Amino acid sequence: MTRAPATQTQAHLNPVASAMQGLTDTGVFLMPPADLNRAIGAGTNEWTRFAAHWRELAPDRYAAELGTRRLRRYGHFVFRPADGHATLLPHRAFVQPEDSNPLYVETDRQFEPLTAHFAKDPLLHGLLRLLGDVATVLEDTAEWDAKVTPFRVLASGDGGGQPTPEGLHRDGVTLVTSLLVDRHNAGGGESSVVDLDGHQLLKTTMSEPGTLLMGDDRRTLHGVSAIHALDPDEPARRDVLVITLAPRRSRG
Ligand SMILES: [Fe+2]
Repeated sequence: MTRAPATQTQAHLNPVASAMQGLTDTGVFLMPPADLNRAIGAGTNEWTRFAAHWRELAPDRYAAELGTRRLRRYGHFVFRPADGHATLLPHRAFVQPEDSNPLYVETDRQFEPLTAHFAKDPLLHGLLRLLGDVATVLEDTAEWDAKVTPFRVLASGDGGGQPTPEGLHRDGVTLVTSLLVDRHNAGGGESSVVDLDGHQLLKTTMSEPGTLLMGDDRRTLHGVSAIHALDPDEPARRDVLVITLAPRRSRG
């Protein structure tokens, strides 16, 4: 990583305050697993339960058209900072906001909904509360649109593991976050965050589950390099949870 001071928790700050400071200073922050666990009160049992949801994802046919084997689900919550409560909305198509992703301009994409037990998982709701807290340093709003996408990217000896086939991009939101949940037999998968002029702000390979990368999506672009199988005879996978927050502007 290239901006160590902005990605390490300062001893005198709690994890939320550290994240707020990093996002304000540089637009990016990397929270280590120990700090995340402290912030949301999670431990080994919670993570084991949470990671099991990634065994129930569904194929992403849009990524398959680009030659990438990716599984996912999708859920749209409304998060209210006033009471720290996240409500799951009825399932609808996923629309990439504005013109943020050149691959999917004005394209609605249909993904399978989150399973009921994923949508209710206390660890997910702890994450939403944490991110809702952090996001207040970027924008003030009574309600956030929180879009939740668990991803599994697969690779094997013959390739096929592009976490972000669109390359460096924005999501068209305020806060964009990526949480590493698990990786197995996977090399590569390096995360890059650059500013709008293309200057590198952070480059890191998230290797420890529970590592949480956050970016101010209004002033940064992000991307992840391909993964490959370390042992070519075995499949490789990288499991992440992407959560984005944007001020709620409509009932859509
Ligand atoms: Fe993205």
